[in-house]
Amino acid sequence: MGIVYFLGVWMRVEEILSRPSIFRDRNVLSPHFIPDTLLHRDREIESIVRILAPSSKRMKPKSIFIYGKTGTGKTSTVKHIMKFSDQLCAIFAYVNCRIYNSKYKVLQKVGKTFIGELDKTGFGLSHIYERLVAFAAGKQIIIILDEIDMVKDVDDLLYMLGRSNDEIIDGGITIIGISNSLSFKERLDARSKSSLYEDEMVFAPYSASQIHDILKERSKIGFEPDVVQESALNLIAAISAQTSGDARYALRLLIRAGEVADSKRLKTVTDREVETARMNVEDDVIIEAVSTLPEHQQILLLGLATLTTGGSSYAKLGGGGEGAGAANVDGIEPFFMSGELYEQYAKTCNALGRQKRSARWYREYLTDLEMLGLISMVETSTGIRGRSRLIKLCYDAKRLKPILEKSLSCGIAGGHSDGKS
Ligand SMILES: Nc1ncnc2c1ncn2[C@@H]1O[C@H](COP(=O)(O)OP(=O)(O)OP(=O)(O)O)[C@@H](O)[C@H]1O
Ligand SMILES: [Mg+2]
Repeated sequence: MGIVYFLGVWMRVEEILSRPSIFRDRNVLSPHFIPDTLLHRDREIESIVRILAPSSKRMKPKSIFIYGKTGTGKTSTVKHIMKFSDQLCAIFAYVNCRIYNSKYKVLQKVGKTFIGELDKTGFGLSHIYERLVAFAAGKQIIIILDEIDMVKDVDDLLYMLGRSNDEIIDGGITIIGISNSLSFKERLDARSKSSLYEDEMVFAPYSASQIHDILKERSKIGFEPDVVQESALNLIAAISAQTSGDARYALRLLIRAGEVADSKRLKTVTDREVETARMNVEDDVIIEAVSTLPEHQQILLLGLATLTTGGSSYAKLGGGGEGAGAANVDGIEPFFMSGELYEQYAKTCNALGRQKRSARWYREYLTDLEMLGLISMVETSTGIRGRSRLIKLCYDAKRLKPILEKSLSCGIAGGHSDGKS
């Protein structure tokens, strides 16, 4: 009996492993993969290289702050630039501040990058700092602080790194800060602001045709030839551009569509697989995005999802949505007036037993949520109500609502402070 059972399992495993797949190399389709060529970012690459160019003449370049919505290629572009280390006569340290989220952790990571001995734990902050200053003598060091808004004591960190330049002999430390929070700048001290924002760049969301090109290029190496149909690529590009211009989302959709085709043993990826994949990908994206949001941004989103599913007098502004609160047939959610949403946010706070934040914070939350591609906003032209902002969800409210309710009730939200109180 045991042997028969084992043989059955073994045969099934064999069958699964020997099944032909339409993927040639799944890794290259992963959102973590950094491609050799970055399409449609030549201008950004050139601008950054131009700003960093003084290092090739042993002069300290200006610091750069890069911001843009999620999936607009900020991390990929900066990692691409690290390849020019020799030409720039500079050495780079890349720090993912989502992981290294304090002054100490950042400095430890930078120290470890350059000085092997610092790999051991237990060194004090001042020891690491002094070793780094000594190491930097005669060198141009470029520290990339990706998702810099995650660093709890970011003002102290920037002050310390800035001050190090007075102590480094014949060398310097330049910072490239990256964030998708527009309101981050407002939270900084004036001194940090002037040290980080010597040069500023914005990465625009990708258009449908740019996403199409990125997907096309990637599918050439990720899939077997002629697997992904042109119409499927166009559909993914259109969906992604319409929601947020996010290349990561587009790639996720592509890989999921490939998996759907594989599971059905199809030889091609068509619009139908994209449509099926869209449902799965949205849930993944929503859960990931929502779980790291500060509490009040989650409450605000919940308010918007409630309005969207419950109805409103302005719901028809979504264009095509028949009747109050009805989402359009193609899944695009309707727009709501800013004042109306604030009221709903206040009600939701009340229902959850939380103190609502002021209208000023509310506007900042909106800006952050837009940068994350979770909502989108348009200004109305002057009408009976004067100028106002219209806001809509970029994701399906019916799916978002239970995720937010769960997150807020089991306290995930409390785990991430936005420092705004
Ligand atoms: N121009 C591009 N050409 C090819 N692939 C790209 C391009 N831009 C982005 N990608 C791909 O999209 C994914 C997301 O890009 P990236 O991580 O650089 O975005 P980001 O702006 O840093 O987003 P976030 O703000 O969420 O960190 C990566 O898999 C990357 O390979
Ligand atoms: Mg990034």
